[in-house]
Amino acid sequence: MKNNPKKAAVIGCGFVGAATAFTLMQSKLFSELVLLDANHDKAVGEAEDIGHGIPFAGEMDIYAGDYDDIADCSIIIVTAGANQKPNETRLDLVQKNVAIYKSIIPEIAKRNYEGILLIVSNPVDILTYVAQKLSGLPERRVIGSGTVLDTARLKYALSQHLNVDSRNIHSFIIGEHGDSEIAAWSSTNISGVPLDDFLEMRGHMHPDMDKQEIAEKVKNSAYDIIAKKHATYYGIAMSVRRICECIVRDEKSILPISTVMHGDFGIEDVCLSMPTILSAEGVETHIPIELSEKEHTSLKKSADTLKNIIAGLDL
Ligand code: 2OP
Repeated sequence: MKNNPKKAAVIGCGFVGAATAFTLMQSKLFSELVLLDANHDKAVGEAEDIGHGIPFAGEMDIYAGDYDDIADCSIIIVTAGANQKPNETRLDLVQKNVAIYKSIIPEIAKRNYEGILLIVSNPVDILTYVAQKLSGLPERRVIGSGTVLDTARLKYALSQHLNVDSRNIHSFIIGEHGDSEIAAWSSTNISGVPLDDFLEMRGHMHPDMDKQEIAEKVKNSAYDIIAKKHATYYGIAMSVRRICECIVRDEKSILPISTVMHGDFGIEDVCLSMPTILSAEGVETHIPIELSEKEHTSLKKSADTLKNIIAGLDL
């Protein structure tokens, strides 16, 4: 079905779905936003509550709908599924959430969907792979939010450490959105100045220690927040907004989204995050950033972790 560039849907109205809808309402990127949830009343309630903000933000339609209502969207965002509890890893959610995806994705596929499918539920890399297989959509139109959030966390932590605007920091977390993720330090720079030089300029004389501490802090962010407030949702909502903005405005920005890999960095047939040019048509190409040998080895290990899980799935 021909898609409407100003229309999006959010499937799953839990904390992440509701925060995403709220953020998208304020973004003005869409003129129509449809909310779906297994509990229809929850979707109706969220649409009403968020709708009451429209007089402050600008006109749009936000309503609870069904699969027939979303077939002409330009982006469908899937946040449905169980979320991490304290002491759980993202990978612990795989069986539950693959089962949920088996009920959602075929509903989209059978309506000849022509837009982009943006996967947000965890484990996001596995579910992006599963969504592509279950939907049969072209790989370029199935993407996961991946490490866009982790990369924002990294820039935020670095900006605090270096006392510099996070928007001037060029750095990526790559690989799994999860425990095997990698901070791509060797390509990190602050407006062209290599990170180690910038650290020294700011009086930090132990770059390796600083980097290790920051990477650990970023990797454990979700665990830390979940231990305190039982969920994370604002950071991911802003990450989804950024990805949507890039698609709607055909920006061709380089974002670390999760996509199917085909040989780049020697990685094949698995979804994980690498810096990727994203346009209105979806994935354009991966960017071959420089990796040290250690980073490359860790990336391959991250891919193997994900591949082992995929191998155990009944798809
Ligand atoms: C996050 O990183 C839990 O994946 C979610 O905040």
